[in-house]
Amino acid sequence: MTATLIDGKARAARLRADIATHVAPFKAATGRAPGLAVVLVGEDPASAVYVRSKGKATREAGMESFEHRLPVDTTSEALLALVRDLNVDPRVDGILVQLPLPAHIDTQAVLLAIDPDKDVDGFHPVNAGRLAIGAAGFVPCTPLGCLLLLQDIHPQLAGMEAVVIGRSNIVGKPMAQLLLQQSCTVTVTHSRTRDIAAHVRRADIVVAAVGIAQFVQGDWIKPGASVIDVGINRTETGLVGDVDFAAAQAVAGAITPVPGGVGPMTIACLIRNTYVSACRREGRPDGLGTAS
Ligand code: GUN
Repeated sequence: MTATLIDGKARAARLRADIATHVAPFKAATGRAPGLAVVLVGEDPASAVYVRSKGKATREAGMESFEHRLPVDTTSEALLALVRDLNVDPRVDGILVQLPLPAHIDTQAVLLAIDPDKDVDGFHPVNAGRLAIGAAGFVPCTPLGCLLLLQDIHPQLAGMEAVVIGRSNIVGKPMAQLLLQQSCTVTVTHSRTRDIAAHVRRADIVVAAVGIAQFVQGDWIKPGASVIDVGINRTETGLVGDVDFAAAQAVAGAITPVPGGVGPMTIACLIRNTYVSACRREGRPDGLGTAS
């Protein structure tokens, strides 16, 4: 058996187009476009590419993009002052400070300064707390994208065994919360887990977010399982995920490729979160079904 390929690129394009159709009536009713402010400090090439893509996707959805590029020697104080300005700017519904920040900047202080109700990255502790108790907030874009891909395959996730590999604040922990909210039985494995393979072998759903190239072996995968690979690892042979794709594809029921799987969903979910934020701030229903 060969696993079904999960086409994240196509799913992300559909999500972005769906948001664009909702943005049009939003503009007609409110007289303004939803706005996303993206802040880049320094000139890390990968971050610069991400920031450009985010701006482009924002404009393509009919929303306004405010891009702030600051020099690498920007002080914490100057960055905090910009964040405070964006917090009170009525045109700005979403604020994203691209990570990683230069080492001299206190990242936690910056993330804490963002108004939780404009925190479309979902990195503020208030939004982590809201996710943990099932209250409305913002969910980090990458795990949200993973959930949307999984829901396409499994409209009913309740009761499934899910194993998350990795416990980062950006992916592993919020992913586990989302799957728990869907009534999966969730196991979070990490670098100190004794026998990761034994856990993965029980899993109907595997989400790999460890950042180690081809860490998950094909013979760990339960036949028919759905495998979501969040990894983006640069190797001599090119970009590879956290899963040994060729071996896993022979066993799994469905699997995301790298690239073209989870990656495109992250930006699409950022666009979605920004639109949702704009609706909340205007007191309007977002009109999105559960599939968006
Ligand atoms: N750097 C890598 N991924 C992300 C992300 O999703 N949000 C932000 N702010 N920075 C990132």
